[in-house]
Amino acid sequence: MDPIKSPNVVWHNTSVNRDARARVLGQKSAVIWFTGLSGSGKSTIANALEQRINQAGKLSYLLDGDNVRMGLCSDLGFSESDRKENNRRVAHVARLLWDANVLTLVSFISPFREEREISRNLIGTDFIEVFVDTPLAICETRDPKGLYVKARKGEIAQFTGISSPYEPPEHPEITLHTDKEKIEESLERIMKLLAEKGYL
Ligand code: ADX
Repeated sequence: MDPIKSPNVVWHNTSVNRDARARVLGQKSAVIWFTGLSGSGKSTIANALEQRINQAGKLSYLLDGDNVRMGLCSDLGFSESDRKENNRRVAHVARLLWDANVLTLVSFISPFREEREISRNLIGTDFIEVFVDTPLAICETRDPKGLYVKARKGEIAQFTGISSPYEPPEHPEITLHTDKEKIEESLERIMKLLAEKGYL
């Protein structure tokens, strides 16, 4: 857990724990954390994967970067410290959902390796890092929101891949190449991994 500001806070154990909740829900939870550049295809794949998980009869929730920035993280921008705070909040929300036995999908750029490791340590072996390894040049060609054009013109500061760093994972559980494989192939590979690990 993170260092806390007040010394006058104590942890309360609850009587109903994760195992008890799992018995009611009849499923095992994981956090499937998609990381990659803007435009890499994270949200598209995460959304399609959630559909598959739903069709398989499992309870899921997708935390998407842009959406979370409209509420929980609406006070955060794109400086290094704001992105780290973004990652911290999302990691803790994901942990709560995981603790509730929900199959939790997370789709954020999450550019910093160390911050993603913090998320991994919070979740443990149920953390599945999915690296959406789409080269910058391809993301820039796709530019679905027109943000790369603006970033190149200097109209958006600290844009990931252009004027702000992206640190690729060193040991992701799975790497997707959206420029070389069809979305269906990527989905099959993730579904296979989830089944092998006993989540589906
Ligand atoms: S993160 O770096 O903090 O993980 P997050 O995934 O929440 O980023 O938000 C990324 C999305 O915000 C992008 O897909 C893009 O639509 C938008 N965005 C706006 N400004 C920036 C920026 N400077 N860098 C990257 N993405 C940005």
